[in-house]
Amino acid sequence: NAGALWGGRFAGGPADALAALSKSTHFDWRLARHDIEGSRAHARVLGAAGLLDDEQLAGMLAALDVLDADVEAGRFGPAPDDEDVHAALERGLIERAGTELGGRLRAGRSRNDQIATLVRMYLREHARLVAAGVLDVVDALVAQAAAHPGAAMPGRTHLQHAQPVLLAHHLLAHAWPLLRDVARLQDWDARAAASPYGSGALAGTSLGLDPAAVARDLGFERPVENSIDGTAARDVVAEFSFVAAMIGVDLSRLAEEVVLWATKEFSFVTLDDAYSTGSSIMPQKKNPDVAELARGKAGRLIGDLTGLLATLKGLPLAYNRDLQEDKEPVFDAVDTLEVLLPAVAGMVATLQFHTDRLAALAPQGFALATDVAEWLVRQGVPFRVAHEVAGACVRECEERGIELWDLADDDLAAISEHLTPGVRSVLSVEGSLASRDAVGGTAPSRVGEQLALAEQTLAEA
Ligand code: ARG
Repeated sequence: NAGALWGGRFAGGPADALAALSKSTHFDWRLARHDIEGSRAHARVLGAAGLLDDEQLAGMLAALDVLDADVEAGRFGPAPDDEDVHAALERGLIERAGTELGGRLRAGRSRNDQIATLVRMYLREHARLVAAGVLDVVDALVAQAAAHPGAAMPGRTHLQHAQPVLLAHHLLAHAWPLLRDVARLQDWDARAAASPYGSGALAGTSLGLDPAAVARDLGFERPVENSIDGTAARDVVAEFSFVAAMIGVDLSRLAEEVVLWATKEFSFVTLDDAYSTGSSIMPQKKNPDVAELARGKAGRLIGDLTGLLATLKGLPLAYNRDLQEDKEPVFDAVDTLEVLLPAVAGMVATLQFHTDRLAALAPQGFALATDVAEWLVRQGVPFRVAHEVAGACVRECEERGIELWDLADDDLAAISEHLTPGVRSVLSVEGSLASRDAVGGTAPSRVGEQLALAEQTLAEA
């Protein structure tokens, strides 16, 4: 194989079975553009170190430009014999620059430092795209919150009615984790901004090439501190995969609620036709497939992370070929999120909330019992007693099949001397909401502040 990057010490070529196992062009070809960018930077440091004269450097860069254009236009691609993206592109370079000049580029670099660098370049680019997609989902949540300023809904714990909350408060509770995911991607980028180029196979270069110059050229902030670490570490890939999985999990929790909310029994929302699907047999069906796929893809994203961590566990330093297995899962995570996020954003943006039903259900299930107990505390009653008294109100109502606000003054007085008619001030959803007015609470004034903060965070992200 004329394009092979190795072979000198071998009497024969690789077995077909080995070549088939070893090959990675079907997934690493997506790094071709980054590989060529890396080659340009590498050619320049070879020039700076006197290993390419001005004419050779100009010829090399010109050939790389032609190769780049040919790759871009689909005129050049990996051949069946090419082991990986690096081998394919060296073949392409030699075809364009000739063996004499093209054969000089590989000096002082290894596929080990190349691939470690290219993956970082690729993921740093896509981290920005993924973050933009997450922000679009946040934007949709924030817009829905802003569109329903006073709407109440049943807040739940254990999926049981707990206390009334504002719909906007609940929607923003899905926005904040996603904003933290975006912050995670930004924090991650600071760690990913170190270039392994120049680490060589593992020990660094003897040719006087400047890793800092290559790093600058490729948009990194600095070269890695240690060439062994630079070629062997994949925590930067694993950390990206974790953030991708976390985004998947955060979307999945929102998605599960949308699935429930769209049922006949809940009837909290109607999905837009553009974001729901039909059934091939049941003509009436309108299914929440976007939400279900979001829930399903979370499992896949978690698998991408755990598969990679399992691959890394126990690998000795420095490079081992196992590391080639980092790419398919992390590329899958990128592809999954890039197709999922716009669909979730569209689904959320077009959800139609049934605010009358939400408001009617908000106080059901004795959701104001805590308000009774806390009202008693404000009258000086110890909470232990207040809890018992409010509980007795619930028991009485349950037996009689009525709601807390149906209890007459006499009923209240019979339960406890502390239950004066003043307690009625908190036996309404509005009263309950307004009373939870500390920072982070569901009182309309606080949710208004929270919404402004979310909008500001979104604008600055
Ligand atoms: N294709 C490999 C990878 O993705 C890079 C090549 C390193 N191969 C080697 N035999 N040292 O990790």
